[in-house]
Order: sequence, then C-alpha cells, then structure tokens
Amino acid sequence: MSSQQQFYITTAITYANATPHIGHAYEEIATDALARWKRMNGWDVQFVTGSDEHSANVEARAEALQTTPAEYCQHMADIFEKTWKALGVSYDRFIRTSEPIHHAAAQEMVRRAQANGDVYQGRYEGWYCNSCENYYMETDLQQGLCPIHGIKPRWLAEQNYFFRLSAYAEALQRHIETHPEFIRPETRRNEVLNIIKSGLKDISISRASSRWGIPFPGDEKSIIYVWFDALINYLSAVGFPWDLPRFERYWPAAVHVIGKDITRFHCLIWPAMLMSAKLPLPRQIFGHGFIYLKGEKISKTRGNVLDPLDMVKEYGVDPFRYVLLAANAFAGDGDFSEEGMVERYNSDLANDMGNLLNRTLTMVEKYCAGQVPALAAGDPAQDRVLADMAAALFPDFDQSMNQLNFSQALARLWDIIKRANKYIEESAPWACCKRQEMNRVHAILYNLLEVLRLVAVYLYPFMPFTTPRILEQLGDAQPQRVPIFPREAAWGLLPAGQVIAKAGPLFPRREKKTSAESVDKKAASGDAAD
Ligand code: ME8
Ligand code: MG
Repeated sequence: MSSQQQFYITTAITYANATPHIGHAYEEIATDALARWKRMNGWDVQFVTGSDEHSANVEARAEALQTTPAEYCQHMADIFEKTWKALGVSYDRFIRTSEPIHHAAAQEMVRRAQANGDVYQGRYEGWYCNSCENYYMETDLQQGLCPIHGIKPRWLAEQNYFFRLSAYAEALQRHIETHPEFIRPETRRNEVLNIIKSGLKDISISRASSRWGIPFPGDEKSIIYVWFDALINYLSAVGFPWDLPRFERYWPAAVHVIGKDITRFHCLIWPAMLMSAKLPLPRQIFGHGFIYLKGEKISKTRGNVLDPLDMVKEYGVDPFRYVLLAANAFAGDGDFSEEGMVERYNSDLANDMGNLLNRTLTMVEKYCAGQVPALAAGDPAQDRVLADMAAALFPDFDQSMNQLNFSQALARLWDIIKRANKYIEESAPWACCKRQEMNRVHAILYNLLEVLRLVAVYLYPFMPFTTPRILEQLGDAQPQRVPIFPREAAWGLLPAGQVIAKAGPLFPRREKKTSAESVDKKAASGDAAD
C-alpha cells in the first residue's frame, strides 16, 4: 500500500440524451483543475466522470432516432469522452450506468435499504417531469408546468417502492450542522437545512411503467428510479461491491462537484441512502453556480447553446479553460460570451502573460547571450518584491484551490504577473545596461525568468498544454513533466546557464468580436439541452 493520501473527486454524470454544452464543460474543467492540482501535490487522485443513461429522455430520444437505447447511449458516451479529452479533462474513469458492474452496485444498495427496513410498497400518484427526472405535487407546479423546465409533466399513478427518507431528517440535519464543510458553498448549505426544516417526505424509488433501467431487486417488473440508480455511480466507479479493497481505498469521496440544480438529490437523498446502507458519507458536496450565455439560460429549445468543441477550435483549449475559470466565481452564477472571451484572452493572456514572456526573453537574448544569468545579489529592497510575493503565493493558492475558488487562485497568480510587468518598468534593465551595471541587469532578468517559471508550473492545473510551452522557452530539459509541488514552488530553482529558446507569441492578440460574428449567434439544432 502506498503512503499517499487519497483524493477521490467526481463530477455529476451527464444525462445521455443531449450533447454536452458549456455548462457541462465548466463543471468538467473546474473539477479537472482541482484533480490536477491534487496530483501535482502528491495525492493519490481518483477522478471520475460519466454518463447517466437510464433517463426517460434517453429512451424517448433513442426511439425518435429509431435506434436502441443501448446503441444510442454508446454513441453519446463516445461524444462525451471525445469532448472531455479535447478539453484536457484528465479523468481516471468514465462510468456508464448501463455497465453491468453498476447494475450490481445499484441492486446491492436497494437490498441494503430493504434489509435496513427502509423500503416499503405504496401507491404513487402525482406529476413527473422527464427532464428533472423528479416527482412533483400539484402545488409544486407553476401554472401546471414544471417549475424548472416549464414543460408539462406527465401524470403518474403506479404501484411503487418507497424509501424512508423522512426517517433520516434528524440524522441529516445533525450531520450537516456538525460538519460545516459537508455542503459548500454556504448558500447551498442553508438551502438544504431549510428544506429539512420544512419537512422531508419519503420518495418513490421504483418505476413500474418503464423498462429502460435496472431491475428492482425482488420485483423484476419494476426498475430502479433513475436518481437512486445514478447517485450510486460514485460507488460503482471505484469498485463497490465487487472490488472492496479498491472501494475502501477511495471511498469516501473527498468532494462531489455538482451544479446547484441537483443539490437536493446529493445533499439529502444520497447521504440518507448511504446511512441506510451503513456506508460513510462523502466529505464534501460542492454545488457550483450556473453558466449563462449573455445572461440567458442555456437551452437548445431557445437556440441558446454553444458547443465547447467549437470554442476549443476557435480559441484553443487552454484559453477556453482559463477564461471560463478566471472570469467566473465557481460558487456563484457566471456568464460566457465570445466578446467576453476575446476581451479576457487579450488582456490576461496576450497582454499580461504574453508580454512578460516576450519582453523578458528578448532582453535575455540581448543582455545575457540567451542564457539564464546567475541569481546574483542585486539591489535587495527592490528585488525582494517578486521573491516575497512568490513565497506567499503557495499557501494562498492552495487554500483557494481547496475551496474550489478557482478565479481567486488565478487572480493571485495574475497579481504576480502584473507586478513583474511593473517591475520591468521600475527597474529598467536597458538603462542599467547603458550605465554598464551588468550585475544589476542579470539580477533583474533572473527575477523575471524565475517568475515565468513559477507562472508556468502554477498554471498547470488550468492550462496544462501551456505549461510545457513556457518551460520549453525557458530552456527546461523536460517541459512535458507534471510539476512536483510544493517543491517546485520554491524561489530560485531556475538553473543559471540554461539556454532559453524564445519562440513566437504564445497567445497572439485577437481582433475584438462583434456579437454578429459570434458562433453563439448561430442557431443551434439537435436535442433538448436540459
Ligand atoms: O443533472 N452551468 O445531468 P445533466 C453550469 N444526470 N452547470 C450546469 C449547467 C450550466 N448552465 N447546466 C447543467 C444531471 N449543469 C444528472 C446528474 S449525478 C448522480 C446525476 C450541470 O446532464 C448540472 O448542474 O442535466 C450537473 O451538475 C451537470 O451539469 C450534468 O447535468
Ligand atoms: Mg440538467
């Protein structure tokens, strides 16, 4: 066994009835950034994503396309995996709920709930929204429509199995109150506590009228309700119940990263299911905000969808990743537009970062014959400023990452980039050169190169393809390696004499987009986005 600490991190599994949009990409990229950060800090990371295949919409979609749900889901899983790979999402396992091992896990969880006396038969009557995969009472509806999707729900009346969620109200409340980190951010935590206080009802966990799903143990005519089934992916993906050593190595999860619309399922039903099965609870559930497209809800019916693959093609994978995470606070709602994308690209990447790299390397060629100068004793007061900022960066950055505050982590890093650009102006190496103060010139350029090295390695979780490109220009012999932290966060590691390899600009400036040119104005076609 290794002495490494485990870090099991998951995204929600995407419904297989629609191609991925920017909201899904946002969740994947953010989760990837944290997974990469933990890996480079020496953790034994297990990063799981996947597809949620037993939904009513999947069945309907397959039928509309005159194919089988199984074939259709395979096709969609291929699209998801292709998309996440193009976005640099470094998942370790892509779990599909149609996998036999997942079926076994879901059935085992039903059996455990049964054995614990938490399952009983009853009659369900009410409204069902296919897009939420959720039951509603008449009073929940808004003018007869689903409060979330605005579509007409179906009337369901069937003999179902129920799970005694109500029996767990007290235990859930106690757990949430005694574990402040269990539900993040605070707004989600308060929301969940309020739901408990307003009273928890038992939930139906089977469906009698559908065939596409996992057979319900003890009643093969029914299938397991899709949410009960889907949540269990977090267990089956790491080996429950067929590979217990593996399961015990990774469970409980460090954090489930999900969107705010599915907080109830993850913060109430899921922990109650685990309590009933006598399994430990995940350490954290983080309900991030939603991405809107220029203030509008992402929805294919409204033609308001952007394909993340188009954005990668247009702007490159790393700029897209960077702008999504730098421009939006993960805990709150965010916005995306191509105009905003280009603006951030130009200001942060082309200007702040690109200029620092180009100006520094140009001067190293000119004043140091293209070699990293020695870390010399320059003017201490003026030169300590960058080293001091760099020393303070690690604890701040690490804390921001652990709080899934990605925009804050990046802002800290950009503080140093901006400070380094200002330092070039203040220290004016060209003037020092004129005065023939070459020791001073070398000291200044060493500081700038060292900031660039740090920027390259700190950027790895966000811009994994840019890190090697910067390291390469700094003359690093192994630019493709995964940085090792916190070792490489130390100041002064860049070896003197290393020969730099200046290349063209990393991020050439882009023309401003007018909204008429944006891809997001093109009418989208295809499946329903929700
Ligand atoms: O809910 N901005 O799947 P899903 C940010 N299968 N995040 C968004 C978003 C947006 N505009 N739109 C969706 C499901 N998401 C279930 C999950 S987990 C056991 C089962 C997020 O395809 C959404 O909140 O509708 C969820 O976390 C994920 O994308 C998948 O959404
Ligand atoms: Mg959804």
